[in-house]
Amino acid sequence: MEIIQAEHIMHNDPAHIRLEHDPKYAHGSAFINGVYCSIDEAAIPITDTGFIHADAAYDVVSASKGFIFRLEDHLARFEKACEKFLLNNPYSNSQTAEILTNLVKLAGTREAYIWWCVTRGQTPANRGDLGAYKNCFYAFVVPYAYIANDEVRSRGIDLMVSQKYIRIPPKAVDPTAKNFHWMDMKLSLVEAMQNGCDWSVLCDAEGYLTEAPGSNIFVIKDGTLFTPDSGCLEGITRKTTLELAEEIGMPTRVERVHVDQLREADEAFLTSTAGGIMPINSVDGKLLGGVAGPGEQVTQLHNLYWERRWAGWLGTPVDYREPATV
Ligand SMILES: Cc1ncc(COP(=O)(O)O)c(C=O)c1O
Repeated sequence: MEIIQAEHIMHNDPAHIRLEHDPKYAHGSAFINGVYCSIDEAAIPITDTGFIHADAAYDVVSASKGFIFRLEDHLARFEKACEKFLLNNPYSNSQTAEILTNLVKLAGTREAYIWWCVTRGQTPANRGDLGAYKNCFYAFVVPYAYIANDEVRSRGIDLMVSQKYIRIPPKAVDPTAKNFHWMDMKLSLVEAMQNGCDWSVLCDAEGYLTEAPGSNIFVIKDGTLFTPDSGCLEGITRKTTLELAEEIGMPTRVERVHVDQLREADEAFLTSTAGGIMPINSVDGKLLGGVAGPGEQVTQLHNLYWERRWAGWLGTPVDYREPATV
């Protein structure tokens, strides 16, 4: 079985290619302080605490073939993140869904990367009084982008386990609430690339796997699928992968996973809204399972993921014939 060339299909298949749109949305659409605009015009106030203090929660959902995938799950996760960070989304879930759908329509994207956040907003005179803040909502849509494109997914990601960094501990910033604290992930990525790798993964202080920049990690050993139960975002692609694995009869275990289990894995992969299921080729230069390229089990999961999505599974169809309600 070969890895489906999903990116090629998205860019070339008539059922996937971008629909006609106002040229001002060529690079994408945005929603800032209640106003729709092109992404080139979008700007946030420089003193917003979301920008200066990372005081925000956010989420990302994707559309493919005009279906927004698991929108309800993403909205529910976002709602919980706001609760955990004591933020208030000024819009209800159905209003949020409408804004995001409008942005997709304005950009004409059937393959879309859909991002939104709520920030604490401007600092009031009494900065400890949460009621004195006016929380702000921002969103944008751009054409879908992959962490690992067709070429990288077909050969598999060369992964580096970060030596210099660990993931921010859950007691410092709760990783189950999607947040702007990316410095550990960003710098580990630089470290990986300086060492000739494609991507990095971060452990906790005790050498257990947490997550990778923008993605969750999975390990396959003797036919069983393992993924960390803590120290990471509860990814929607992770949830989808666990469901698909159970469906094809692959036993799953969500528990602490030591980095040595990754090094000794038969197969491994990353999961993210930005790229789906992404096979790993090597870890710190060692080929997984002793063979180059994606293994059979990850290839099966990868292909099933895109086939299902393109059949509309758990997808909210966007009615592009109806104009955006802006
Ligand atoms: C830190 C982190 N972990 C995991 C993920 C994967 O989550 P999902 O599958 O919901 O995109 C993301 C997504 O951006 C992320 O930022």
